[in-house]
Amino acid sequence: MARFPSVDPHTARAVQELVRGCTFDDFILSPQHSVLPRRDPALIDLSCQLTRGITLKRPIVSANMDTVTRAPMAVVQAEEGGLGIIDRGYRPGEIDPQVREVEKVKRTQHGVIRDPYSIAPGARITEASALMARSRVGTLVVVDDRRRLLGLLTERDLRFARGDAATVSERMTPRERLVVHHGSITLGEAERVMDERKIKKLPLVDESGTLQGLVTAKDLIRQRRRPFATRDGQGRLMVGAAIGAAGDYLERAAELVRAEVDVLVIDIAHGHSIVMDRALREFRKRFPDVQMIAGNVATAEGARFLVDRGADAVKVGIGPGGGCTTRITTSFGVPQVQALVDCRVAVNGSDVPIIADGGIKRHGALAEALLFGGDCAMLGSVFAGTEEAPGEVINKSVVLPESQKTVKVPFKVLRGMASIEAIRDRLDVEEADTGELEALGAEGMEISVPTRGSARTIVRDMMKHLCSSISYGGGASLDELRGLFWADPHRYLIKLSESARRESYDR
Ligand code: XMP
Repeated sequence: MARFPSVDPHTARAVQELVRGCTFDDFILSPQHSVLPRRDPALIDLSCQLTRGITLKRPIVSANMDTVTRAPMAVVQAEEGGLGIIDRGYRPGEIDPQVREVEKVKRTQHGVIRDPYSIAPGARITEASALMARSRVGTLVVVDDRRRLLGLLTERDLRFARGDAATVSERMTPRERLVVHHGSITLGEAERVMDERKIKKLPLVDESGTLQGLVTAKDLIRQRRRPFATRDGQGRLMVGAAIGAAGDYLERAAELVRAEVDVLVIDIAHGHSIVMDRALREFRKRFPDVQMIAGNVATAEGARFLVDRGADAVKVGIGPGGGCTTRITTSFGVPQVQALVDCRVAVNGSDVPIIADGGIKRHGALAEALLFGGDCAMLGSVFAGTEEAPGEVINKSVVLPESQKTVKVPFKVLRGMASIEAIRDRLDVEEADTGELEALGAEGMEISVPTRGSARTIVRDMMKHLCSSISYGGGASLDELRGLFWADPHRYLIKLSESARRESYDR
């Protein structure tokens, strides 16, 4: 398990002094003797803790924003070794849509499918076709009313079926012609059986013949193709969801837990608050064992406050986010590097990880976030405009500065979750005017972002750059670089003058 190294209090005090009032672009790191023959993300250990109980192989989490993370983004993040948090940008009481996003992720890939889609033998084949179309699966397990296995029905069985009156039992492959496994099975064993018997589906039953699960060749192949993927004990992709701290949050949590969400995020703008205090107490009473991230905070007191109330991870960042206007509208917040160092020192000695949330625009800032204090990092705007980001593509006319020609450029919208637009949608206040909404205290904005390929490419590029940072820093893994950095931070840290900052980061 990759834990952030413990931080020596004397060294920590010196770093706290140095980073006061500073953020990512105020520093550059001094190159060290490199020990890596290759900068290959497949060979370099980038693993980290997301929460006390969840390890990631890649230190990236996509933000719970309604223009960033829904099921398609969460799937890509988990496949690439990180995790996506489904936002709660739905109207109060509208819990189902968020639950469905979680279910979509959980059903994308399996090791063993514990509750495969099933149908009764007497059902019509039209019903079976409709269920296949709705659930987007090509195989249904046929079971009796006590869930005993009777057969398998695939799309192929329906292809030449004539007449709507035909029933499932007439078209299915009956149990006696199936290869069936009794009892539990490891994925390796399942692969061996399926290879030997040349089958694509292996139903699992107990001694009474009751269906226990289904293993499919497609899932096994996918598992092998994604060696870094973040999976649960059943080989399914992991996913998180945000719930807030008031209103329907406990009911929402209960529904999400029922859908087997892997981690919940109690996410409010100011997590060091009486609202959070009450929310955490109630949450822990109801869900003592659910992995739970709480935030956001940006001070040592804030971080300790969440740790003391049972958070399994602390999300750090007040105001650094790309779609965020908190600092402009309130003059409160903490520059992100200072916040990360202060919170790291505060959680030192506990096993509660820190999620560095917001402000990572250039890839190099990720390495800084992970050295200064983050076990992993949450990113929003970096993934905006990608294929997997929710929202429609809008073509906008843009004037090219060189030729003054007008061209159509495709954009997607990124909006802060506290922006007027997001609040309007969440609260269903179509009629309210901007003034009334501003009175609610908007702390975010809406930005158009040019569309740009898949988030998968961005994650992979970021991981390559992170490996390069590790190489420049003289480490052999993310963990080792953290250890070297905190053993002697002054060897690494160069505080930039204004002109050095321009030379480094202005392009
Ligand atoms: P980046 O910089 O990666 O940051 O886009 C993502 C984080 O920004 C936060 N966020 C907001 N903060 N008002 C805020 O003060 C908002 O409207 C808002 N929307 C998102 C959030 O922490 C996210 O993970």
